[in-house]
Amino acid sequence: MEFMDSIVEMLFTSSEEELYILDCLSYLMMLLALLTGLTLLFENVPYGRYTSSKYGFPVNVKVAWFVQELPALLVPVGLIFWASALKISHLPNQLLLCMYFCHYVQRSLVYPFLIRGGKPTPFASFALAFVFCIYNGYLQVRYLSQYADFPQGWVSHPCFITGSCLWLLGWIINLHSDQILRNLRSPGETDYKIPRGGVFEYVSGANFLGEIVEWAGFALAAHSVHSFAFAFFTFIVLSSRAISHHKWYLKKFEDYPKSRKALIPFVL
Ligand SMILES: NC(=O)c1ccc[n+]([C@@H]2O[C@H](COP(=O)([O-])OP(=O)(O)OC[C@H]3O[C@@H](n4cnc5c(N)ncnc54)[C@H](OP(=O)(O)O)[C@@H]3O)[C@@H](O)[C@H]2O)c1
Repeated sequence: MEFMDSIVEMLFTSSEEELYILDCLSYLMMLLALLTGLTLLFENVPYGRYTSSKYGFPVNVKVAWFVQELPALLVPVGLIFWASALKISHLPNQLLLCMYFCHYVQRSLVYPFLIRGGKPTPFASFALAFVFCIYNGYLQVRYLSQYADFPQGWVSHPCFITGSCLWLLGWIINLHSDQILRNLRSPGETDYKIPRGGVFEYVSGANFLGEIVEWAGFALAAHSVHSFAFAFFTFIVLSSRAISHHKWYLKKFEDYPKSRKALIPFVL
């Protein structure tokens, strides 16, 4: 028996029970997203420009990003290589897992080491992100590798094709926008400048818009409550960041472009 299977067998008495728990975890993630959204109406996430010592000791930003995102990669690798993965040979499951891994290889192994002059992350934010990456890594990858059944020919269904294109478009916008932000600082600089170019010409939260589109596309292609929960959580957390950053830019820079919106070009 594979190593991860013995852990799963300790936790669940049957496949039906595990699948039921995966569904419950999805609904719980949506509930947590709503509660987080409510909290964020009154308080910014304490990181970056809003960082605060009242949320625990500061963790170096590169270490924080690397360690907090690593479970989003390691838990799935364990589930695929050291647990039974009954659906792994099916094409839609493989393509969706590939999307997930493309994102998290970049996010956990590349992104942290490219950060320039990022502010330290308070321990509470770091710990919450770490737990979320375990939670979501298990939820997405266990469902896709062990349980998800797609109808015959799903990869040529308009939902799968549109969703995959949106995923790719969102990922490219996210990577490009994060690169624009990085290039605003020379090595050693820590201050803020007005981002210009790419999707930043339209919205202050271009990197967030990219990530929201990415996981919304993934949810459309995967067509499950599990992927929808992740897309919903991402939307709530990142739309709030985009709105906060937008207000912050308007206060900080008198010459901030007036036509630029927070998250949705020409609208909001
Ligand atoms: N899926 C999810 O739920 C989720 C959740 C969180 C984040 N993310 C993703 O993780 C990535 C980073 O998120 P984030 O919230 O840290 O993004 P962010 O607030 O835009 O900051 C990204 C980096 O750019 C720097 N930066 C931002 N604005 C700048 C400016 N005007 N001038 C100079 N430097 C600037 C920040 O430095 P400082 O540290 O000094 O501010 C930080 O190093 C994004 O791609 C986001 O989509 C995803």
